Amino acid sequence: RIVLSNRPDLCEYQCNGAMAAAKAYKKKPIDIATAVVENLTGDEMFSEITAVMPGFINIRLNPQYLADYLGGMQKEEKLGLEETGHGETIIVDYGGANVAKPLHVGHLRSAVIGEAVKRMGKFLGYNMIGDVHLGDWGLQMGLIIEELRDRKPDLVYFDESYTGEYPAEAPFTISELEDIYPTASGKAKEDPAFKERAQTATFKLQNGYAPFTAIWKHIMSVSLADLKKNYGNLDVHFELWKGESDAQKYIPWLIQDLQDKGLAHESDGALVVDIAEPTDSKELPPCIVRKSDGAALYATSDLGTIIEREKDFQPVKYIYITDKRQELHFVQVFRVARKAGYVKPETEMIHIGFGTMNGKDGKPFKTREGGVMRLQYLLESVNEEMLKKITENQKAKENLEISEEEAKETAKMIALAAIKYGDLSNQASKDYIFDIDRFTSFEGNTGPYILYTIVRIKSILNKYHSMGKDESGAVIEAAHSASEKNLMLALSGFGAMMENAYEETAPHKICSYIYELANAFNSFYHETKIMSEENEQIQKSYIRLLELTKSVLEICIDLLGFKAPERM
Ligand code: ARG
Repeated sequence: RIVLSNRPDLCEYQCNGAMAAAKAYKKKPIDIATAVVENLTGDEMFSEITAVMPGFINIRLNPQYLADYLGGMQKEEKLGLEETGHGETIIVDYGGANVAKPLHVGHLRSAVIGEAVKRMGKFLGYNMIGDVHLGDWGLQMGLIIEELRDRKPDLVYFDESYTGEYPAEAPFTISELEDIYPTASGKAKEDPAFKERAQTATFKLQNGYAPFTAIWKHIMSVSLADLKKNYGNLDVHFELWKGESDAQKYIPWLIQDLQDKGLAHESDGALVVDIAEPTDSKELPPCIVRKSDGAALYATSDLGTIIEREKDFQPVKYIYITDKRQELHFVQVFRVARKAGYVKPETEMIHIGFGTMNGKDGKPFKTREGGVMRLQYLLESVNEEMLKKITENQKAKENLEISEEEAKETAKMIALAAIKYGDLSNQASKDYIFDIDRFTSFEGNTGPYILYTIVRIKSILNKYHSMGKDESGAVIEAAHSASEKNLMLALSGFGAMMENAYEETAPHKICSYIYELANAFNSFYHETKIMSEENEQIQKSYIRLLELTKSVLEICIDLLGFKAPERM
């Protein structure tokens, strides 16, 4: 196994396998290393390969080999990446917005991470299906119905003698709805009678009571339009807009089946499935599938959803992306699904549990007033911040004229990169601090820095072409300097990095890769006179290398879910 060298002064790659092989073959590591080196000496791939005590193998790539390799990458649509997927279906369950409740920053992480995971899988050749899996069947519906009754008691939905058709027009707008839910939820906390009414209404809705079903449909269509807009602003898109309500029709069968299979048993009036296994390091509680009052739960609806997904798609893998506090829930659901045989034994089920997005005070991110931060508001404030920066920049460089419209568009693009990169550059399971000043900075490990690098490349390419020059057909030559070789080595790592990032469902690995690549490019750029290079062949080779760098960066940011503007 070859790894990148941690002593770039000595070599580019190293192999430490002789140390491990020594035991197995009862030989001295240096003898094994020397034998390997003898076999490989003269191979066109290496310019230098040596065995050093106690048994390391140090390697430098032949610059010509590296240049040819990059030329080969450039000819392929996916830059030489070997797809590991062949159209197998994978469900990514992310987003998870709750209908009629505002999208808050907790939902931001699920949307951002899920979208990246989905795009990565697609790039690797899988048939990725993203399902937003809305929370559309809970108590919030009963709360809204009862609050609506208090506000507009004359609506036909509340007239029990009414037998006609229900109106096609919703009895509220999105802004009313946005006000109805928080009011109702506040009331329920203070007024037990109101809460009971809401519970009854929820129960009636869940049992098919026609007037409430009609209201539910209005709530769904009004909020769905708004949700689609909000997710659209994040450049997050779903193949399926299903939700908990879609799982309900499978639940009676499911409960019966779990009982028939002897998996579910009564416990304190509830119906539960034991999921503990002897190898568990801590005791895991059973999965409750029906409460003592007969109501289904979160787990039940996730199991129902699995039954539907198996019927419709037979995915080879399920990926759920939620807050890591839901970990136990998913362990329970996965184990019940396996025990009952709802998924094939070889079907993979994984839960990516993410950490909390905190404010600079280290506590969960809040508005300045201390309330829950709404996603829309967060987006708007980062947009504004970016626009301010752009306008200031523009004033500093008086010769650069951009229209207000372009400035706004550009601000939006950079803001999205700042937010998404700020999130994705952390390992998902970790908490992170949402630091708007750092995230929007054009320097350091940030989204805007990556965009700035891409824009810099675009501007060099534009300048080159506007001089009437043409590099097409030219090849990438062996590196002319150390910084150029370094850039080339970074580019050559693209395929392996992508496979690994996908394998580990780890978008943060793409971020660290492009950060290093951007740094390698910028060092090369600062040390190299590209535009004033007199040797045309060398200049063409530089331009080809820039094009490849741009392709790699653009593919990577597309997988992370954002785009670069033409200029910044
Ligand atoms: N609606 C849930 C929430 O806001 C997330 C749903 C996640 N997906 C799932 N299949 N349980 O916490």
